[in-house]
Amino acid sequence: MLDFIPEKQFSAIRRKNLSKRFPHDRLMIFAGDLKVRANDTDYKFRPHSAFAHLTGLGMDYEPGAVLMFEPVVVHEKSSKKKMYTHLCTLYIEPMKDRTTDEFYKSTRYGEFWIGKKPSLAMFEATTGIRVLPKSELKEALKKKIDILAKTRIISESSSDKKLLEACAQLRLIKDRWEIQQLENAVEATREGFEDVVRSIPKLREQPRSEKAVEGVFAAKALSKGNGVGYESIVASGEHATTLHWIRNTGILHTGELLLLDAGVEMDSLYTADITRTLPISGEFSFWQRKVYDIVLDAANTAFRQAKPGNTFGSVHDAAMLVIAQGLIDLGILKVSLEEALSENGGQHRRWMCHGTSHHLGLDVHDCADVRKAEYVDGVLKPGMVFTIEPGLYFKHDDMLVPREFRGIGIRIEDDILITDDGARNLSAEIPRNPEHVESWMKTLWNS
Ligand code: GLY
Ligand code: MN
Ligand code: MN
Repeated sequence: MLDFIPEKQFSAIRRKNLSKRFPHDRLMIFAGDLKVRANDTDYKFRPHSAFAHLTGLGMDYEPGAVLMFEPVVVHEKSSKKKMYTHLCTLYIEPMKDRTTDEFYKSTRYGEFWIGKKPSLAMFEATTGIRVLPKSELKEALKKKIDILAKTRIISESSSDKKLLEACAQLRLIKDRWEIQQLENAVEATREGFEDVVRSIPKLREQPRSEKAVEGVFAAKALSKGNGVGYESIVASGEHATTLHWIRNTGILHTGELLLLDAGVEMDSLYTADITRTLPISGEFSFWQRKVYDIVLDAANTAFRQAKPGNTFGSVHDAAMLVIAQGLIDLGILKVSLEEALSENGGQHRRWMCHGTSHHLGLDVHDCADVRKAEYVDGVLKPGMVFTIEPGLYFKHDDMLVPREFRGIGIRIEDDILITDDGARNLSAEIPRNPEHVESWMKTLWNS
């Protein structure tokens, strides 16, 4: 039995949509191979996201597997034009059970070493895709395809750009099952954030307390049978001004802020991506609060812009306007709003140099292979899921910033679903208004 049951009706629709894009081409999507960590020890396997999306297989299924779309002529009627469809086959290396020498000998594939693997019949039953042993792939590739047709490949080493792009486009709109997975991931992440808040009083001033917070979040995820979707960013004090602080070696000091950017990943590999910036003492200081309010205003303004018909890029523009104005109001940005927002301006970007949003799904930065015209300049449609995550980051040695703001880093990140008439904040249950953050922390500390 597979540990994880994919929703085969949804992945069947995805394959059908991809098939229509390349009617007479042969498509091969490689899951990828195990990667050596050192000597005979591998990293845990994670399939290519295009493979996971088109098969519905998650977890660590399945090293070496290939999903092939073989073009087949459906009917040639009286017209000269050929009609094509695809026959999909999953080529999988069969299990190395007791009937094989590898059972004992192969640390990578032998079941004595890695545990029992599902049979090919089991893969077929759970994915709804025809499954053949990998050894038959060579023979299948000898079959001729149309003279004008191409063999397009997605693999770790090289990929067909058009196929990669088409697979990423398919993922721009999430289906019902994907949305459910993301909702589950967000809910599990909320539980992790709650445990982190509970742990703060015990961890304050402890060596490597950032690492301990990483552990608290991961422990909650694992205790529910899940994992984390990316390296957790646990950034206290000045570390919060480093966008991807994943070393997590610092100490939680009372009076400073803790920026936690973390997300739970489900068996299906769908992940949340959420950030909260919390006062380690339980209360924001006057200056921290000033910065927090600007970031929150930027997030709320961006959220209002997130609705069908608006472009993805306009959500970022809405946030940037508030960030620039906020910096002017703090006396930090010394140019006019018009100049900052003009083509050659961007002076405010010194303090927020990342985008406000990215699509979210199987990859934390999902759909990355979609062209700008359809990503940043693309129009928002129901079923899209993306983050809204403005921030402000004042480095401790930034002499353009008044002393009281130096060393403050704040980001607020939520996961947003575009609906028919607006957007739903999937992570709204994790407090983000400063008063709510403070009362939430107090309640958890007193319970
Ligand atoms: N966790 C990385 C990001 O927010 O994009
Ligand atoms: Mn993000
Ligand atoms: Mn994040």
